[in-house]
Amino acid sequence: MRVFVTGGAGFIGSHTLVQLLRQNAEVTAFDNYSNSSPVALARVKRLAQSDLSSVEGDICNRAALETAMRAAKPDAVIHFAGLKAVGESSEKPLSYYKNNIAGSIALLETMDAVGCRNIVFSSSATVYDPAKAAPFTEEDPLGAVNPYGRTKQFIEEIIRDWAAANSDASAAILRYFNPVGAHVSGDIGEDPVGIPNNLMPFIARVAAGSLPRLQVFGGDYPTSDGTGARDYIHVEDLASAHLAALKYAATVKGCDVFNIGTGRSTTVLEMLHAFEQACGKAIAYRITERRAGDVASSVADVSKAKRILGWQAKYDVADMCQSSWNWQSRNPKGYDNGQ
Ligand code: WQD
Repeated sequence: MRVFVTGGAGFIGSHTLVQLLRQNAEVTAFDNYSNSSPVALARVKRLAQSDLSSVEGDICNRAALETAMRAAKPDAVIHFAGLKAVGESSEKPLSYYKNNIAGSIALLETMDAVGCRNIVFSSSATVYDPAKAAPFTEEDPLGAVNPYGRTKQFIEEIIRDWAAANSDASAAILRYFNPVGAHVSGDIGEDPVGIPNNLMPFIARVAAGSLPRLQVFGGDYPTSDGTGARDYIHVEDLASAHLAALKYAATVKGCDVFNIGTGRSTTVLEMLHAFEQACGKAIAYRITERRAGDVASSVADVSKAKRILGWQAKYDVADMCQSSWNWQSRNPKGYDNGQ
């Protein structure tokens, strides 16, 4: 199978590439490296002991996309590329709407031009209306509360309309909960630029000594210990969900949407203590004010993915922390260390 992967050098893209190559897929990674590194692709090839094609390009560049896709002749596209920082999306909404929405439209147009009708799309749990108490099922009302989340919500609708207009189209939309962890080798992982916004890379840098302490945003939520609860999912499980979705999209027409999580809830302090176990060090923290826009709890109902895709998560929080620490300690400067 030939697969065209936008954002292939990113955190989730790189882990998915390794699994695709190990299944003997022919892969083209299309990435502008705006928040990723070509070093990740070199490591993917080494890990999978297999080659892939890589094209440096932007999904908003319709001509570049078409040249790359005509050469790749894909059976399916996995669409990871997009801007993803929630806070930044409120400061630069037009940049988010342009990159994520215009980029996705350019991608679908190019797929039409080259006759590829299968897509797996990276959506997010942030599309759900936070007024509904977790766990979220796919039928729950949508109502993203920031521009980033709204781009995902709008792209879902665009893909749904595209699939409805093309009887031969297949689209699997995956709503990720909180992706964390790294490949077991420690060779690829999450490499955020600057001070991380997300919990897991922040904890990892405190453990490594490059940040002084974790600020725990809120200690008075209605959760087991008062700190925010999330459904963390190991990036290797997330990657395998894409392979299951590709298989599904190869046989079933139309558009469907799946939550991709574990169905289990972990609080900030539970995650911090699990990470302490993994790295063998105490991690300094202080409980501070709630972060604007955060919900108390976000957990997936994962029964649909299990029922229809035949997929479920295998890894637990201890695996997530272990692999994340392995990546962090082997690559203190992320991909800056080079090959
Ligand atoms: C998790 C928990 C924080 C940092 C975001 C996006 C979502 C998706 C994943 C997609 C919360 C707490 C965090 C810190 C803390 N992104 N926290 N101190 O907000 O659930 O989801 O990332 O591309 O769309 O919204 O993830 O990791 O930021 O936070 O206490 O320094 O950790 O309050 O309870 P979130 P997160």
